[in-house]
Amino acid sequence: MVQAVRGMRDVLPAEARRWRYVEDRLCMTLRQFAYEEVQLPLLEFTELFARGVGESTDIVEKEMYTLADRDGDSLSLRPEGTAGCVRALQENGLLYNQTQRVFYTGSMFRYEKPQRGRYRQFSQVGAEAFGFAGPDVDAELIAIGAHCWQVLGLTNHVRLEINTLGSSDARAAYRTALVEYLTPLAKQLDEDSQRRLLTNPLRILDSKNNATQALLTQAPQLTDFVDEAGHVHFNTLRTLLDELGVGYVVNPNLVRGLDYYAHTVFEWITDDLGSQGTICGGGRYDGLVQQLGGKAMPAAGFGMGVDRVVLLHESVHREPVKSAVDIYLCYTQSQYLAFASEIAQQLRATQKIAVRVHMGGGNLKKQLKRADGCDANWALIIGQQEREEDFITLKHMATGVQERVDRNSLVQHVLVHSADADVTE
Ligand code: HAM
Repeated sequence: MVQAVRGMRDVLPAEARRWRYVEDRLCMTLRQFAYEEVQLPLLEFTELFARGVGESTDIVEKEMYTLADRDGDSLSLRPEGTAGCVRALQENGLLYNQTQRVFYTGSMFRYEKPQRGRYRQFSQVGAEAFGFAGPDVDAELIAIGAHCWQVLGLTNHVRLEINTLGSSDARAAYRTALVEYLTPLAKQLDEDSQRRLLTNPLRILDSKNNATQALLTQAPQLTDFVDEAGHVHFNTLRTLLDELGVGYVVNPNLVRGLDYYAHTVFEWITDDLGSQGTICGGGRYDGLVQQLGGKAMPAAGFGMGVDRVVLLHESVHREPVKSAVDIYLCYTQSQYLAFASEIAQQLRATQKIAVRVHMGGGNLKKQLKRADGCDANWALIIGQQEREEDFITLKHMATGVQERVDRNSLVQHVLVHSADADVTE
């Protein structure tokens, strides 16, 4: 048997149900904030990510799935959504003299070391806002996250960390100062940080290595390089979050792994998932549109890791998400199939009830066993007596209670009862 590629996950029915539940609520929340959906390609020119995400980031340096197109172009599976989103809106004239608030959902690909919560194909729900320079939109993006956790019942399991990187100039000046400070100490840094000193020194602040962290206590501090306007932006954001009642901690070492950020950065983190605890990351990237060839334009956004949100949801809400099958339709003789299908269609037409018609024959006992096996709320039984006397038997699976229902009132009857049982959830 050919096996799945390492790091590529199969999401099987029980998890897929939870996945759909979670992703639907994330997207619904974005729609409630009036963000518009966009659908973007999985493949882009490699150059887009090199220029957008940054040549020296881990993502571009060693994690992209890059392939040569048949005509020799270098293409990459998207490792993230922001660069492609900027490209798409810019290319289609949607950033010209206007603001945009959009979201997307779908697979991203990174050649990382797979473990629980970290996969080579993973899914993000991302949101991006273009044309807003002030911290109000930073606060809105954070509030969207807070709303999502509330809708999913996860609020008590996540915390928000925020930081400011200041303007691109501030960040560049800080980078120089940090390199000057760390270069003579390079040998005492962990291996990863030694490499980052040459490629992406700010990421050293992120290091989990104790010796490296000890050296950093004496290092120049990013916040000292942030200019007045940067501090004002950040302090206003903090006030807005306070007013919204969104709790946060300022983490001065939060720098994020992509090059395009300036000013606000933030992460939503959980302690319930071990080392892969960041379920959402984002921030402001005012320079990116211009860097990719557009007119200078402020922008900010976030990406949520759907796989991780689903894992967290499962660890917090252990009961399985209900199966899609509300009604399992049993019929005892093959000549009743047409009638059974007609009944099923009437129920489905309500768009509120999922009906699975039994297939493969067998006696009623076997069919009811199947109904049980797929977690149906009810079994509908069409047998000889039912056909002769023109009624349908409705069996409530949890209690075993059976009732005779008139064919003409069946749909109404089921709807009323399903509203009680909330099976349409
Ligand atoms: P990111 O921090 O690279 O940011 O990814 C966002 C989220 O995607 C992470 O917080 C995590 O939950 C999830 N994620 C990342 N890598 C993996 C993986 N290998 N397996 C499972 N989940 C993963 C971005 O991608 C930015 N584009 C976010 C953004 C949008 N910033 C501004 N706008």
